[in-house]
Amino acid sequence: MTSRTPATAPETIPVPGRQPHPATATNGSDPSGRPDKPARTDQTPQITVDRHLTAAERHASLAADMRAGLTSHPRELPPKWFYDATGSLLFDRITRLPEYYPTRREHAVLTAHAAEIAAVCPAGTLIELGSGTSEKTRLLLDALRATGVLRRFVPFDVDEETLLQAGQDILRAYPGISVHAVVGDFERHLGLLPGARPAADTGAAAGAGAAGAAGADGGHGEGRGDRRLVAFLGGTIGNLRPAARGAFLRALSDQFADGDALLLGADLVKDPRRLVAAYDDSAGVTAAFNRNVLSVINRELGADFDLRGFAHVAAWDAENSWIEMRLRSVREQEVGVRALDLVARFDADEQMRTEISAKFTLDSIAAELAAAGLSVSHQWTDPDGDFALTLAVPS
Ligand code: SAH
Ligand code: TRP
Repeated sequence: MTSRTPATAPETIPVPGRQPHPATATNGSDPSGRPDKPARTDQTPQITVDRHLTAAERHASLAADMRAGLTSHPRELPPKWFYDATGSLLFDRITRLPEYYPTRREHAVLTAHAAEIAAVCPAGTLIELGSGTSEKTRLLLDALRATGVLRRFVPFDVDEETLLQAGQDILRAYPGISVHAVVGDFERHLGLLPGARPAADTGAAAGAGAAGAAGADGGHGEGRGDRRLVAFLGGTIGNLRPAARGAFLRALSDQFADGDALLLGADLVKDPRRLVAAYDDSAGVTAAFNRNVLSVINRELGADFDLRGFAHVAAWDAENSWIEMRLRSVREQEVGVRALDLVARFDADEQMRTEISAKFTLDSIAAELAAAGLSVSHQWTDPDGDFALTLAVPS
C-alpha cells in the first residue's frame, strides 16, 4: 500500500457568504455522526485543503516541462498548463458551445444513471480527479447523499483557484458534507489521496455510521470503512497519451481497496467531422483556449510569445484514434523565454503539438482498465452512443 506523507499540512479556509449563528451551534447535531470530533467554537464552515503543488513546485515543474517541450522535435507543450484561471474560464465556455457535445452527453448519462451508480457504490467519500467546476458532479453528490452514506467530497485539480471556488460552492450547497480539496497533479500525487488505507486497516476508525452502512453491502470485503468512489469525468483520460494512461490507471488501481470504484467518463469514436468541430468551434473559443498556454508561459516564465503569431489547428488522427491540437506559427519568428534562458526559433508554418484528446470504444476502455487491474462493472452511454461512463472495480 501507498505510504501517506502529505507534502504540506492540510489547512482549512473559511467559506464566506453563509454564516450560521456562531453562538448557538454545537456538535450535538453533527449529521455525520462522527465520534470524537473536537468541539468547535467557530462554526464557520471550512473546507480542508491539501497542497501537493506549491507555487515553487509548480514553477519548477512548468519550467522543466517547457524546456523539454520547446527543445524537442516536433515541439510539444504538455496540456496540464492550459488550466490557469483564464484557461479554466475558457474551458467552461467550451462546455457550453453548440459543437462541444461531450459535456452535455456526459450530463445526460449521469442524469439517467446516477442513482444506479450510487446503489452499486454507496460511497462515503466521493473523490473527483480533474474536478474543475464540479458542475456535473452535483448529480453524483445528490444521488450519493440520497443513500445516506456520503460524508465527504474530495475535489482534486491543478488549478487551485477554480478548485477552491468549486469546493466552497459545494460546501454551501451540501450541508453536512465535508469538503477536502486537493491541489495536485493526478499523474504524480494519486498516492496522497485522502482515505488511502493501509492494508491491515479494518476501517473501524472511519466512522461507525458510514462503516455500518457501507459494510452492510454484501458485495466486497467485510468490516471496511467507507467506500471511495473516484470520478474522472469530462473525457480528461483522453488527454493522456497511451503510456501515461496506463500508468495513471495502474497507480489508481494500486491504491484501491475492495468496494472502491472508478467512474470514468470517456468520449467515443464517431464521425471525424463532428470530432473536429468539437475542437475547432466557429466562435474561436477553443482556439483561444489553445493559445492560452502561451499566455501562461509568458506570465510565469517571462516569455514573449505573440499570441497573434500562432494559429489553432485541430486534426483527427485515425491511426491513433485521437484529435490532435496544435499551434501553427504563422510566420518565421523568435521567442525568448527568460526564465529558461532560451530563444526558440519557429519556422513559418511550423506546428507545435499542444494536446491530444483520444476517443475510445466500449471495448478499448474495458481493455485499458483490465490491463491496469480493473474490471468493468457497468457501462452506459447516452442514447446516441456519443459518450460513455464506465464503472470499474478492482479485479
Ligand atoms: N471534470 C470537469 C473539467 C474537465 S477539464 C468536466 O468534466 O467538465 C480538465 C480538468 O482537469 C481541469 O480542471 C484541469 O485543471 C484538470 N487537470 C488537467 N491536468 C491535470 C493534472 N495533471 N492533475 C490534476 N488536474 C488536472
Ligand atoms: N478533456 C477535454 C477534452 O478532451 C479537454 C478539452 C476540450 C480540450 N477542448 C479542448 C483540451 C481543446 C485542449 C484543447 O475534450
